Amino acid sequence: MVKISPSLLASDFANLQKEIESISAADYLHVDVMDGLFVPNISIGIPVVQSIRRCTKLPLDVHLMITHPQDYIEAFAKAGADIIVFHAESDCDIDECIAKIKACGKKPGLVINPATPIDPVLPRLKDLYLVLVMTVEPGFGGQKCKEECFEKVRALRERITQEGLKTHIEVDGGITGQNAPLAIEAGADILVAGSSVFNAADRNAAISELKGC
Ligand code: DX5
Ligand code: ZN
Repeated sequence: MVKISPSLLASDFANLQKEIESISAADYLHVDVMDGLFVPNISIGIPVVQSIRRCTKLPLDVHLMITHPQDYIEAFAKAGADIIVFHAESDCDIDECIAKIKACGKKPGLVINPATPIDPVLPRLKDLYLVLVMTVEPGFGGQKCKEECFEKVRALRERITQEGLKTHIEVDGGITGQNAPLAIEAGADILVAGSSVFNAADRNAAISELKGC
C-alpha cells in the first residue's frame, strides 16, 4: 500500500512536537531543508532536524533543497535523518553524494524538478532507496500540482519493474485526495503532502484519504 510522508513545512513551527503527534497515521516525516540559494526560500536546518529526531520514531525523509549538498550529508545524517534526498540539479557529483549517504549508513534519494527529464535517474535506480519526482517548483508549499509530471512517474515505474528493483517513487507538491489516485495509478508509492494534511481538520483522516482508504 502507498505510504504517506507529511511535509512539516505546512505545520506550526512553534509546536512541532504536537504537530508531529497529530499525524500518527503517517509512514514517514518529510522535512524540507531550504537554503535561500538553491530555492528562493529558507526553512529548516540541522538543529531543527536534531530536535525533531527526539520527538518521533517515524523515519525522517529529509529533502535537501540546497547548494553543495555533499558538504552537509554527514551533518544531516548525524542529526538523525534516515533518508537523505538531494537534487540532480544541484552542483554536486551525484554518485559521490549517493556514496556519501550510504557511507553514513543512510538511504539515498535523488530528486528531479518538473523540467528535469528522468535521464540522470535511470542509470542510478539500483543505487537509490527512492526517486522523488517534484510536481511543483521547489521552494514553497501550497502550490498546485503539475499533473503532467506523473508521466515521468509512469516511465520510472516501468523501468523499475523491468529491472526487478525495489526503488520507491515519491511525489512531492500539491498532492491532495483528488490527484493522489492519479499519482498512485502512475506508479508512485510514497506521497508527500503538506497543506492537504496539515490544513485538514482531521489530519489522520486526510492521510487515510490520500491512501485511498
Ligand atoms: C516544496 C516542498 C514540498 C512542500 C509540499 O518545495 O518540497 O515538500 O512542502 O507542500 P504541499 O503539499 O503543500 O505542496
Ligand atoms: Zn519536499
